[in-house]
Amino acid sequence: MVETKKLLRALAGEVQDVPPIWMMRQAGRYLPEYRATRAQAGDFLSLCYNPELAAEVTLQPIRRYGFDAAILFADILLVPQALGADLWFVTGEGPRLSTITQPSEFEALKPVSDIHETLSPIYETVRILSRELPAETTLIGFAGAPWTVATYMIAGRGTPDQGPAHALREGDTALFEALLDRITAATIEYLSAQIEAGAEVVKIFDSWAGSLKGEAFQKYAVEPCRVITQAIKARHPGIPVIGFPREAGEGYVGFAGATGVDCVALDNSVSLDWAVEHVQVDGCIQGNLASSHMVTGGQALVDETRRIVDAFSNGPHIFNLGHGITPDADPENVQLMIDTVRSR
Ligand code: CP3
Repeated sequence: MVETKKLLRALAGEVQDVPPIWMMRQAGRYLPEYRATRAQAGDFLSLCYNPELAAEVTLQPIRRYGFDAAILFADILLVPQALGADLWFVTGEGPRLSTITQPSEFEALKPVSDIHETLSPIYETVRILSRELPAETTLIGFAGAPWTVATYMIAGRGTPDQGPAHALREGDTALFEALLDRITAATIEYLSAQIEAGAEVVKIFDSWAGSLKGEAFQKYAVEPCRVITQAIKARHPGIPVIGFPREAGEGYVGFAGATGVDCVALDNSVSLDWAVEHVQVDGCIQGNLASSHMVTGGQALVDETRRIVDAFSNGPHIFNLGHGITPDADPENVQLMIDTVRSR
């Protein structure tokens, strides 16, 4: 069968005049319809675990804008919760979790085989979406990379420099590595279950990869991503994987080859010419418009969007932001970005 979905064609290496487009956090607080559905659910976690409403917010940006891909509405921190960590969100501040800094806290975690008990509503969301999405829209499943998930599990919250996770990595390497292994194994099962429910692509978000340097980057960003990607490909041949080692800098070079991912997502600190020469040579890339343009809009948004599309036009490319869209973004700027990409 000839593949007709634009996103899957890019992931297979096809160069297209108009690249497929979607946006990180496309279902989110910048949209009034998202805020209304979240209010109906009660709070963010209740929304994640309500399959009908989670499917509804996933579909909202597809209806409004006709993106080429929908990303499952969930969160990377549901995996720690499924492993037994306490998780809650403080409005205006972000996530809070029970911490893991001692062997006894690690030993109290649940086995990987238990995660589906908590995560089964997420698979139901995927099933609803694979029925309801338009035929041309690709459904993306996702999980956090082990390092990024571990930074939250160790610190119990987001941290500017991932200090507590680095301290455990250096202070009790065995415990740190045991935690990473547990998350890696859980992530393989979680992504597999999403694929069995209908996800057509999976993305691994390593938001804090940039704080791992040198050998630590190889061991704790590249290696877990390789293990997960290889396991997914062994179980589900033909399912493409997108890797996002955010702010990896030089670490982007060779990342696709070392891990086996089909596409590398770029943050917006990466310059275009450099990315063409050092990353797109290995295959499909995704990115990388600064999400601040979704707030400021105007001619600068149009110019920068065109610059990115042109720079990446000789290789496979998925247009996206360099990080998630923020709550203060103007929904009309999203339309302007899409029109600019598609009028090429
Ligand atoms: O992209 C999408 O639209 C799919 C859904 C999605 C969410 N989070 C929904 C969400 C995805 C893919 C994520 C990934 C995620 N979650 C990451 C990796 C990507 C990144 O942004 O770096 C991380 C680090 C998290 C953890 C997380 N979740 C934090 C730190 C926060 C609070 C910060 C914030 O933006 O409010 C969340 C909350 C969250 N996850 C929201 C959404 C829509 C906002 C919650 C709300 O509605 O109040």
